[in-house]
Amino acid sequence: MTATATGLLAAIADVGADRTRGGYSRHGFDRVELELREWFTAEASKRGLAVETDRNGNIWAWWGNPGPDAVITGSHLDSVPGGGAFDGPLGVVSSLAAVDVLRAKGFTPRRPLAVVVFVEEEGGRFGVPCLGSRLMTGAIDADKARSLLDPDGVSLADAIKRSGADPSTLGPDEEALARIGCFVELHVEQGRGLTVPVGVASSILAHGRWRFTFTGEGNHAGATLMEDRRDPMVPAASLVLAARKAAVGGARATVGRVVPVPGGTNVIASEVNVWLDARAADDAATKSVVAEIQAMARQAAAEEGCGVRVTQESYGDTVVFDQVLRDDLSTVLGGVPALPTGAGHDAGILASRVPTAMLFVRNPTGVSHAPEEYAEPDDCEAGVAALATTLEHLAS
Ligand code: GLV
Ligand code: MN
Ligand code: MN
Repeated sequence: MTATATGLLAAIADVGADRTRGGYSRHGFDRVELELREWFTAEASKRGLAVETDRNGNIWAWWGNPGPDAVITGSHLDSVPGGGAFDGPLGVVSSLAAVDVLRAKGFTPRRPLAVVVFVEEEGGRFGVPCLGSRLMTGAIDADKARSLLDPDGVSLADAIKRSGADPSTLGPDEEALARIGCFVELHVEQGRGLTVPVGVASSILAHGRWRFTFTGEGNHAGATLMEDRRDPMVPAASLVLAARKAAVGGARATVGRVVPVPGGTNVIASEVNVWLDARAADDAATKSVVAEIQAMARQAAAEEGCGVRVTQESYGDTVVFDQVLRDDLSTVLGGVPALPTGAGHDAGILASRVPTAMLFVRNPTGVSHAPEEYAEPDDCEAGVAALATTLEHLAS
């Protein structure tokens, strides 16, 4: 069996296609993600890989007996709401295709090798990105994770139960971590930083998510005089502008989600929730951007007679990938370039515990987290070849 990355992507092209938003909506433990997990399990089984699910719902497909000192590759199958076809799935399908390439040439790994699929990498349903790898490494408390709510008020614990699994097992997984000798995640590049088909990652920006809850007075849009209003949408709008103003010098600040309560055209909201995604070169720069935005938001809330509560929902400091592994892979792949990224990855979470690297596949437009996300088929197959070379090198 020798599948191509694009052939495998085509096989899941209809799963989770979002007819309303465009692109894909595939979220942790929803019907669509469960279908993709089943598809992955079937593909891995066809290849004779032994599939197991760990205590946090991450799936491992083993070539050879599980660990220690295993070479691990893989990525995630979930998406942002209305996301592209490549962010996550490209790494998973390329891993399967790379196994096929190695099998076809008669390679037998000297170290155990596995393909992993991490759960809810985008945080598109439960708000916290890299949930599977954070749980595994203890970067998020298991009780806190179990009580995370999706937009419909369903807790992670209930979603796991509904999927037929047991949420009580969530938590740090030292056994799974101890098996990992190194982790290499292949991913579509998410900017225009790569001008050749394949590169390696050097670093990830510090980044986090903050929820601002503005509270005011719900009232009638026609009968309430402008001077009588305490409208939380007004400071919410100021926060959007504050984010644009504060993110300077390479920092990024984004408001991509605003939820007014109750949310009616002719209703002054009583509450508005606004999610801020902020990223910068290091911890100090990120915190300073967020502090500036918070100060502006508090002032805007006070001016409107509104309250504001701020909750940090996730955070990760700057990641510098293992330089020895990075340089080694760059050399093995013929001197491909190393580039930084502003996007978060499970590889970034694992990097604090095990030698970790990433391969990037060129993105001709740089668009990502959108239906237009794209990589040329030839570049995807160059990614598979690079991953196969990488795995062969590491597992020899
Ligand atoms: C995930 O892709 C992120 O960077 O938010
Ligand atoms: Mn993403
Ligand atoms: Mn991703």
